[in-house]
Amino acid sequence: MSNSAIGIWTTVAKKILMAMTGLSLVIFVCVHLVGNLLLFVGPAAFNTYAHKLMSLGGLVYVAEAILASFFLVHIVTAIWVTLGNWRARPDSYEVSVGQGHTSRMNISSRTMIWTGLVVAVFTVIHLINFKYGPGIAEGYTIVLDGETARDLYRLVAESFAREVYVIPYVLCMILFGYHLRHGFWSAFQSLGLNDPRCTPIIQVIGVVIAVVLAIGFLVIPVWFYIGGAA
Ligand code: HEM
Repeated sequence: MSNSAIGIWTTVAKKILMAMTGLSLVIFVCVHLVGNLLLFVGPAAFNTYAHKLMSLGGLVYVAEAILASFFLVHIVTAIWVTLGNWRARPDSYEVSVGQGHTSRMNISSRTMIWTGLVVAVFTVIHLINFKYGPGIAEGYTIVLDGETARDLYRLVAESFAREVYVIPYVLCMILFGYHLRHGFWSAFQSLGLNDPRCTPIIQVIGVVIAVVLAIGFLVIPVWFYIGGAA
C-alpha cells in the first residue's frame, strides 16, 4: 500500500473513531439530562437517584472508565483530524467563504474544534465542581432511608444561585448545542451514511437533539437562579 493510501485509511479510521465515540457520548448526555431533570422533582428524588447510582459500586467505576476513555479518544482524534485538515488546506478558509451551501458546512465544521474545546474545558470544570466538589466530609449530607448520603442537590442549588456559574453554564450549553447540531450528522457521514435521501433526515434529528439537550441543560441553572426551586 502506498503512503498516501495509508494516510487516507488512517484519516478514515480516526473519523470513524471520532464518530463512534461522539455518538456514544450523545447517549451519555441524554441519560445524564434525564437524571438531572430529577432536580425539578426535589432534593430527595435527585439525591436518591445519585446515591443509588453510586451504590452500584464497581459497575459505576467501569462505566466511568469507559466514559472517560470515550471523551479522551473523541478529543484526541478531533484534534488530530483538525490539525491534518489545517496542514492539508492551510488557505481554505479564504477560498470557502461565501460559496453557498457547501462552504457553510465547511465553516460550521471549522468551528467544531473550538466549540468542542469549550465543551471539554466545561466538562473538566464541571467535574471539579460537582463530582469532586464538597461531599459528606464537608457537611453536604442528607438522610435517605435512614442512611447518610451526599447532598448533591444542595451543591447544585448553591452553585446555580451564583451568576459566576450560571452565565458560563448557559453560554457553554449554547455552544454545546451548536457542536451537537453539526457533530450529529457529521458522525453519520463519517460512518458512511451519506445517502442524499437520509442526510436531510439526519440533519433534522441532529437539530432536534441539539436543541432539546442544550435547552434541557440550560434551563436547570436558570431555574435555580431565578429561585424556581425555593
Ligand atoms: C445543568 C446542567 C448539568 C447539571 C446540573 C449536571 C450535574 C452533574 C452532577 C451533580 C454530577 C455529579 C454526579 C455524581 O458525582 O454522582 C455530574 C457529573 C458529570 N457530568 Fe454533569 N451536569 C450538567 C451538564 C453536563 C453536561 C452538558 C455534560 C457533558 C458535556 C456533563 C458531563 C458530566 C460528566 C462526564 C460527569 C461525570 C459522570 C461520572 O463520572 O459519574 N454534565 N453532572
